[in-house]
Amino acid sequence: MFTKEIYTKRRKKLKQAVGSGMILMPGNTDVPFNYMENKYPFRQDSTFLYFWGLDRPGLVSLIDIDEDREYLFGNDIDLDDIVWMGNQPTLEQLASMSGVGHWYPLKTIKETVEHCSKPGKSLHLLPQYRAENLIFLTKLLGKAAWEINNQASRELIDAIVDLRSVKEKEEISEIELALTTTRQMHLTAMKMATPGTHERLIVGAIEGVAVAGGGQLAYPPVVSIDGQILHNYNYQNLLKKGKLLVIDAGAETKSHYASDITRTLPVGGAFSSRQKEIYEIVLNAEKKVIEAIRPGVPFRDLHILASSTIAEGLRNLHIMKGNLEDAVTQGAHALFFPCGIGHMMGLDVHDMENLGEDYVGYDCKTERSSQFGLSALRLARELQCGFTVTVEPGIYFIPLLIEQWRQEGRFKDYINYEKAETYFDFGGIRIEDNVLVTQETSRILGDPIPKSVNEIEKTMAGAG
Ligand code: GLY
Ligand code: MN
Ligand code: MN
Repeated sequence: MFTKEIYTKRRKKLKQAVGSGMILMPGNTDVPFNYMENKYPFRQDSTFLYFWGLDRPGLVSLIDIDEDREYLFGNDIDLDDIVWMGNQPTLEQLASMSGVGHWYPLKTIKETVEHCSKPGKSLHLLPQYRAENLIFLTKLLGKAAWEINNQASRELIDAIVDLRSVKEKEEISEIELALTTTRQMHLTAMKMATPGTHERLIVGAIEGVAVAGGGQLAYPPVVSIDGQILHNYNYQNLLKKGKLLVIDAGAETKSHYASDITRTLPVGGAFSSRQKEIYEIVLNAEKKVIEAIRPGVPFRDLHILASSTIAEGLRNLHIMKGNLEDAVTQGAHALFFPCGIGHMMGLDVHDMENLGEDYVGYDCKTERSSQFGLSALRLARELQCGFTVTVEPGIYFIPLLIEQWRQEGRFKDYINYEKAETYFDFGGIRIEDNVLVTQETSRILGDPIPKSVNEIEKTMAGAG
């Protein structure tokens, strides 16, 4: 964790932004995998980590803004627990690490909340994504689960999004630390992507690198020769020469800052000319977007820039045709690029998504589109200095989707279906990097990971 001054300062800003009332914020608890003693690895809630830094299950925080008092609730362990868990810091020590003035056993929380409550005084809650915390709050507050999530505080959400969106220098260092491990994960995969290897061997190896790096995987990785399936967690395929292997994998640090990197590799180490043609289009889109990133630019415009670049490249290969501006405006290119160009990243790989995607990625000036493809864009609003985002264009040949659109006669003026169908066995290509918006422009975070055709082929040949 960072120093307690950092958390104290963050909470001070939060109190100022929310203005009045109380903020009740439970951290996460342990969750059983299949029975209580066999648990999922503990993952603290990211907002709790951001404001309190305490990476332990079973803690609950309360801020009384009006009285300027901060409380931490939890239970000290007893001798029985010490037998199984070893010694653990006391609640008092945890409160001190986080700069919190008041700490009490968890069982006293109800009386404290009631003591702090006054008629007309707001209780600010976040929407809950864990059943355990929802049940805890229903019992504590005597409300139904649906009421708790429907009554999430917009003031609290907006204040948190404002604070967490702009990364502090300590946070950038953490993301870059995650990227150091992630670079090793991708270099490992590049060495292993040979015909006859199973995808699952690569998954195991890169997870090993993530754990050895001091943290864990930031999300379930995609390691697939069926890269056209965007979230493919199957891992059972055997790598065959001539296939493309999409590896979307990132580590998180011990402090839980994430990275999110994708590389697409030719199984066996050499891209075919057909693969190179599509790869260069995606790479060109990625570079153009990164070059265009700067404060004040709406991220939606960068999604359109990527879409136009992809459409132009596909027209050069006679897969698309016609007036490209119209094609992109109407969403024809989304047949091959059905997702967004990127998202915020930080403590969560999709940062703050649990608070509500639209509160993070959209604002009063930026409305979410309902058009296929563009509707999947998670971040559309103007960029600000200090944002950290992913840039992840891709081209995907999804046979079922292409067939369906063809049967429906969609966008016949812009898509050459006969040509597109010759790519049914192609798979997909995605290239993804993590980028910091700086004062005037942007910076790709972390040390470079092989990305050009040449760099990837050289690395796979062992000469990188
Ligand atoms: N790894 C998840 C994503 O790229 O959004
Ligand atoms: Mn990714
Ligand atoms: Mn991503």
